[in-house]
Amino acid sequence: MQTVQDAPALRAVVRGWRSQGQTVGLVPTMGNLHAGHHSLLKLARARADRVVATVFVNPTQFGPNEDFERYPRTLVQDQAGLAEHGCDLLFAPEVATMYPFGAEQSVSIHVPGITDTLEGAHRPGHFDGVATVVCKLFNLVQPDLAVFGQKDFQQLKVIERMVRDLALPVKVIGAPTLRAEDGLALSSRNQYLSEAERKQAPLIKQTLEQMRDLLGRGHARHVIEKVAHSKLERAGFVPDYAAIRRADDLSEPADGAREGLVALIAARLGTTRLIDNLPFD
Ligand code: PAF
Repeated sequence: MQTVQDAPALRAVVRGWRSQGQTVGLVPTMGNLHAGHHSLLKLARARADRVVATVFVNPTQFGPNEDFERYPRTLVQDQAGLAEHGCDLLFAPEVATMYPFGAEQSVSIHVPGITDTLEGAHRPGHFDGVATVVCKLFNLVQPDLAVFGQKDFQQLKVIERMVRDLALPVKVIGAPTLRAEDGLALSSRNQYLSEAERKQAPLIKQTLEQMRDLLGRGHARHVIEKVAHSKLERAGFVPDYAAIRRADDLSEPADGAREGLVALIAARLGTTRLIDNLPFD
């Protein structure tokens, strides 16, 4: 596996593949890779001839009081994992490559509507940063397809919408969430948890399952959301939301709706903010 840091080197490799008629899959990441990321690579590998992964801790998607500074940067470890899991090329740019005029002066992409709620409401500007950097990565790599984890459910929907609205020639693929044996969704942020918090954390998945079961038994959505919220609070979490939404656009479902829904939770445990979701298939 080759690692490149600048756009001309990236483009030269991709051009070489293209000239041989090969297709290209992209797996954008912020690094500190774990088995969840490796499963995204596997999916890209199965669908494209060549796989490019990117490692870039994107400053524009972090709020002023968020964990940009402490976000784990483990490039050497990441390179070994990527090589082992079938990545052909790693693009690990500097901030100046992604934001030639500086992050504050960058063109910014705002995907309206779907970004007003849930994560968007609790992390103002977050999805502008995500949409902007993903669009830049698409322009740089020009992949045929790109794989994103369903763990960041709203992010996936925002990217799908951006791609459709801007007519970007990239197929967006959502990959199932990978979980630890006790149900905790794999995330780079799990390592911030203390030992005691780590034992508590699977309650999020259990609460999502309870939300699904209660809906299946005919309980009203608003009641289920309140029950979930209190359950998390009683266990020491500080929930931002525990919500049931329409899976296609994250809008509030009509009363009595039972199809095409997803439950989503974001909650703080100590200093760690965890998110997870469960589509009701
Ligand atoms: O999901 C992530 O890791 C990031 O939000 C992404 C898509 C790589 C953009 O920085």
